[in-house]
Amino acid sequence: MNNPLPKEKNKTFTLFDNENGNSYEIPVIEGTVGPDVLDITNLFKESGLFTYDPGFTSTASCKSGITYIDGEQGILRHRGYDIKELAENSNFMEVCYLLLHSELPSPEDFSKFDNLIKNHTMINEQLVYLYRGFKRAAHPMAIMVGVVGALSAFYHDSTDINDPNQRMIASHRLIAKMPTIAAMAYKYSIGQPYIYPNNELSYSENFLNMMFAVPTQKFTIDKTLVKAMDRFFILHADHEQNASTSTVRLAGSSNANPFACIAAGIASLWGPAHGGANEAVIKMLTEINSKDNIDQYLLRAKDKNDPFRLMGFGHRVYKNYDPRASVMKDTCHEVLEILNIKNDPLLDIALELENIALNDEYFIEKKLYPNVDFYSGIILKAMGIPTNMFTALFAIGRTAGWISQWKEMIEDPIKKIGRPRQLYIGEDKRNYKPKEKRERKSIFEWLWSK
Ligand code: ACO
Repeated sequence: MNNPLPKEKNKTFTLFDNENGNSYEIPVIEGTVGPDVLDITNLFKESGLFTYDPGFTSTASCKSGITYIDGEQGILRHRGYDIKELAENSNFMEVCYLLLHSELPSPEDFSKFDNLIKNHTMINEQLVYLYRGFKRAAHPMAIMVGVVGALSAFYHDSTDINDPNQRMIASHRLIAKMPTIAAMAYKYSIGQPYIYPNNELSYSENFLNMMFAVPTQKFTIDKTLVKAMDRFFILHADHEQNASTSTVRLAGSSNANPFACIAAGIASLWGPAHGGANEAVIKMLTEINSKDNIDQYLLRAKDKNDPFRLMGFGHRVYKNYDPRASVMKDTCHEVLEILNIKNDPLLDIALELENIALNDEYFIEKKLYPNVDFYSGIILKAMGIPTNMFTALFAIGRTAGWISQWKEMIEDPIKKIGRPRQLYIGEDKRNYKPKEKRERKSIFEWLWSK
């Protein structure tokens, strides 16, 4: 479904150039909810000026009808539904359907969709050889980037981005194959045989089965843990125009095929400032080691000259509790109870750290609250997921959002290749110097000394 064009308001902003007395009218457009935006599409043409916004802190890069976030209020909605309600009442397959098709499915539509996804859970057997090319110690995210990108070489019948049917098949394939690809990366790293997908199981149960089952014995898993896994995927399903989603959109804007675009998104997600934070939280809590050391780490987090940051805290958009973090916190307690983990030392440190940070002047003033990653790592660790798989699990959930956002972009009537401009601060034109006239620059000395 295409989004309706945003409404132009009967309101303009005037940009006045004090130097030459020229003024430029900038139209204001409004969405359904949230701040209005200045439409600067014609600004350069009319004024010769670009806007400068590193990190896009004030820039809407697209219009979208998928996810709405109000960072001040701590609101996150998909297609109008609050994340808490979705996490409590839906399952991940329903949320995938909602993101892709903009409505919650009827029972018939759900069953059809669920079956469609199940039809695509296997990957081409030839891809097994690609896994073998990786070192056993390779990070699963490195494997994910490679294998998902390589899907482009196998599924040629779903890479024509101009064919709506192929776009849909590619979307289903990506959602269906991600758990298989991630679980295979894990099995490869520990040298166990791959476990093939079992379509009698639900999406999340199937993933846990592929992760933990072995061919020699029957594997059963507690339903509450399956639910926790499913909730983890729901809470990570989409998050508006974050770094990895913007990467998917930018890659897709050049008409690259969907598998290549999602591989680009996985690469972006990997960074510790984004999806890699769940892994970084566990590393940090392990390093803190004892509640007695918390103060010392908080001092480091506040020190401008120390690169250390409190992982799992802060967010570009949320200046309030991340709504996903509160659901995650509750789920965390449920999981620990099911697993009969009475005293988890990392959870104890996390709870104390959260408490101290939330009452600390620095964190209050900068509106730094726990984000989704703060608790998710503890849940995953308790479920036996190895730390280096955490971000791969995030990627499984986020694929639903990435592919929905990619589809929305391709179907947008005003789709253009993403091509930001820059403020050039390099040398102006200089005359070419012949080799014999060049001097050695001391700034390069460190490089040659290596
Ligand atoms: N610990 C200590 N100080 C912090 C933290 C933190 N976790 N986060 C932000 N700050 C401080 C910054 O130093 C900065 O201080 P200043 O104003 O004195 O310079 C101020 O708060 C604003 O921070 P920015 O980096 O400008 O905020 P930005 O929106 O660019 O960054 C980010 C957001 C990357 C998430 C940041 O908060 C961070 O690095 N957090 C830790 C990593 C993390 O948990 N990432 C997961 C994000 S959620 C997700 O991707 C699912």
